[in-house]
Amino acid sequence: MSFHASTPARRVTMRDLQEATLAGEKWPMITTYDALSARLFDEAGVPALLVGDSAAMVVYGHDSTLPVTVDELLPLVRAVVRGSSRALVIADLPFGSYQSSPAQALETAARFVKEGGAHGVKLEGGLSMVPQVELLAGSGIPVIGHLGLTPQSVNALGGYRVQGRGESGELLMRDAKELQSAGASAIVLEAVPADLAARVTELLSIPTIGIGAGNATDAQVIVWQDLVGMTSGPAPRFVKRYADVHSVMLDAVSTWADDVRSGAFPAVEQSYS
Ligand code: KIV
Repeated sequence: MSFHASTPARRVTMRDLQEATLAGEKWPMITTYDALSARLFDEAGVPALLVGDSAAMVVYGHDSTLPVTVDELLPLVRAVVRGSSRALVIADLPFGSYQSSPAQALETAARFVKEGGAHGVKLEGGLSMVPQVELLAGSGIPVIGHLGLTPQSVNALGGYRVQGRGESGELLMRDAKELQSAGASAIVLEAVPADLAARVTELLSIPTIGIGAGNATDAQVIVWQDLVGMTSGPAPRFVKRYADVHSVMLDAVSTWADDVRSGAFPAVEQSYS
């Protein structure tokens, strides 16, 4: 789903995305952490922006998603909501802000909705998160589940590795079904075999959103810095770099720095008389 001239000039809703899926339309979701990129992704017609807890790594420089807090993510959510006018904005619930109890999950999600302006939230986990999903959905907050490689469980999983191979695939199918029954609006499937993601997609009526889950899912999500090649060096197998922004920026900044050192910048054109 993207914005066309005929698309009403209003925010996309979770229901719009679910209806697009039921109509057989695939749609993109992209992580977003600031107003300027939110505006650009809106302009590109991306209907769903995720303020991911991946901000821990790409914004705050941590080596996992675990340290980021609600207070650190909230200003990013506000900026993304302010910067966009059409896309649905989903806030990721960070590690430790929802696992203790459904009440804790509601308190955190309500902050993202009330203080951040988010239109829904995402949380990681399967069966154990059913009570949380039930309360959030029952409270009118669209909630997206996240199965497979759940980065907040990296210590328990023993690293960032493909999940759901062999018998564990059946557990993932069960978890997906339970989350849907609990009221989840959609489910992210991260780093799972393509055939498993296809089976989950077939099983569910809500959208599946893949990242490293093959092309049978209803939607795809990606970290924008990976997509445009802002990051350098080896990338996960599922990343396709559509541009080499790293080189473009490196070249621009290095040239500017050289020009400053040599006195070539600013020239007369960039100076006031
Ligand atoms: O935090 C994040 O960016 C995510 C996506 C990669 C799904 O959870």
